[in-house]
Amino acid sequence: MPADENIIRRVEELREQIHYHNYRYYVLDDPEISDADYDRLFDELVQLEQKYPELITPDSPTQRVGASPLEAFETVSHSIPMLSLNKVTSEADFLDFHRRILELSGQTEKNIRYTVEPKFDGLAVELVYTEGVYQLGSTRGDGIVGENVSQNLKTIRSIPLRLMGKSVPSLIEVRGEVIMTKNDFEKLNKEREKNGEPLFANPRNAAAGSVRQLDPKITDSRPLSMFAHGIGRVEGKELTSHWQSLMYLKQLGFKISQYAKRCESVQQVKQFYQKMLKRRDELPYEIDGIVIKVDDFSIQRKLGELSRSPRWAVAWKFPALQGHTKILDIVVSVGRTGALTPVAILEPVRVGGVEVSRASLHNEDEIEKKDIRIGDTVVIQRAGDVIPEVVKVIKSRRTGSERKFTMPEVCPVCGSKAERPEGEAIYRCTGIACPAQIKENLVHFASKGAMNIDGIGHKFLEQMVDKKLISDPADLYFLKKEDLMKLDRMGDKLAENMLNAIDKSRHPALSNLIYALGIRNVGYHLAGVLAKRFKSIENLSRQTIDDLMQVPEIGPVVAQSIRNFFDNPENLKVIEKLKSGGVQFPSEADEPKELPLEGKTFVLTGALDSYTRDEARRLIESRGGRVTSSVSRKTDFVILGKDPGSKYDAARRLGVPTLDEKQFKELIGE
Ligand code: IVH
Repeated sequence: MPADENIIRRVEELREQIHYHNYRYYVLDDPEISDADYDRLFDELVQLEQKYPELITPDSPTQRVGASPLEAFETVSHSIPMLSLNKVTSEADFLDFHRRILELSGQTEKNIRYTVEPKFDGLAVELVYTEGVYQLGSTRGDGIVGENVSQNLKTIRSIPLRLMGKSVPSLIEVRGEVIMTKNDFEKLNKEREKNGEPLFANPRNAAAGSVRQLDPKITDSRPLSMFAHGIGRVEGKELTSHWQSLMYLKQLGFKISQYAKRCESVQQVKQFYQKMLKRRDELPYEIDGIVIKVDDFSIQRKLGELSRSPRWAVAWKFPALQGHTKILDIVVSVGRTGALTPVAILEPVRVGGVEVSRASLHNEDEIEKKDIRIGDTVVIQRAGDVIPEVVKVIKSRRTGSERKFTMPEVCPVCGSKAERPEGEAIYRCTGIACPAQIKENLVHFASKGAMNIDGIGHKFLEQMVDKKLISDPADLYFLKKEDLMKLDRMGDKLAENMLNAIDKSRHPALSNLIYALGIRNVGYHLAGVLAKRFKSIENLSRQTIDDLMQVPEIGPVVAQSIRNFFDNPENLKVIEKLKSGGVQFPSEADEPKELPLEGKTFVLTGALDSYTRDEARRLIESRGGRVTSSVSRKTDFVILGKDPGSKYDAARRLGVPTLDEKQFKELIGE
């Protein structure tokens, strides 16, 4: 039976609605209906199309996946070449670029505006729409000829199959970047590792590899999205500036960078560069610089193009986060808990604007797995504030003189036996009086969140141990001015300041004191939980493993660590000594602190304007809340910064409430 008018109308209505909700979800990140309601609409359309196959059109939302695998990609010629960008890497070079723009265009400073955007580190593609309907998608290729990946790009939900709005251009070529988020990349690689498949080197390769699949079902299984950043040919619409193009693309239903900005001055461009550089690590996807484009099309035309790149645009690249260098040696450092960590001593190299001379090798197994040897040339990588890592060895640079490394059998600092407990990847020093452990322990004891002793840095604490002025944290409370004067670089005033700082720390909150003790596996958050629950050190020290495990957040490992700590007579001696040194051990009556976020679990995603991730975490934890890295049904709130990642999707899926930055501030009373 052929479809009657009502059915034809209903099918069209469903498609309109699904396209719209798809847009709310994948482009705006702001859905209006629940997943279940969306599924109902989708299922209804699928059923109608099954019954009336003659109604199926290629731009129906049901047709994103399903095409059969190709033998090979066809080639596509770009009607206007997809140019690449000249690069600058310093402010001076950018100012040179600007000077040339003024010269060549004959414009005055105030007539030149730039539109700036992040430079996405992904795969460049072009999409062609005629009469508002998706026709063709291709890779950039060499800029002149690319590959026809239409079927694959169609599976990306942030790419509209139909343009939005009443008046659509008769033809438009949209250019943009296909990306995979950092989280999705990590997840994909973990999965591949489990299945014994080769790993992708970075999110860009993962995105490119996913788009260049002959089977669109594989592309569909990969979490990709696209940011539009330009227009090739367009018919049926007049555009006079790049900014206007971006706004137009947005109106047609494309995702464009929320950071895109029109700058009125060179100063604003510089500020944008700094802002994005600072944000870089917190963004859910990788960017490797900013792109600066002369905004006005008539000025762009006047400036013209060179063979491969336009004169009117430039990429101001960020310093690379990876670099090559040589491993001069591998040494072993001893942590607070006696963990022995192999550390590569590197020929110093600048990576991402920071000089790097050491990289953590984590443990013996990691060295084995990556086959790292002394003398090797390696790729190193830094991300955010974490210690740089060795990504891989460049084996082709081996000369044969490289040496294998073996973990020492004794602690390199105190000479006690080193042991690798069953089932653990790390060796530990067994010496209780190991100076390395003592030093690390002291640094921890004095740090923020612990006893908050301001003004005694790492170096002074080390000297105090080396000069035998102290051998445990409690000794700090017996120091006299004449002791401190024995230290190098010490003066009257400094010594007094230190004594004052020590004195001030004699009245800690119970949670800080517990954290300061350095019980293994008891971090800042757990210390707060223990304080709240057990009210005093004395009481805490009396709990059995079973008692401790009654606390919801404490499992057998932590319970055992706490028990071990209080069963060790050395530790009890230090506690007694702290007391006789005048440290007040708070008890229930001294803990009136209100913890408004107690028991609440938070997940942070995206970049906040007012706080770094660490600051936000501290604010939450100091109010009794807890921050975890992934969203589950138990999460109470997801805090959304700019450009939230897949955690936002998870929150929506699981129905976890979200707070924007303003609401978050209200909640914490800041
Ligand atoms: S504009 C002539 N904008 O960088 C204008 N490109 O080296 C060229 N890219 O292949 C493109 N983010 O795919 C532009 N916001 C952005 C970009 C961007 C990344 C890529 C682009 C191109 C390459 C140029």
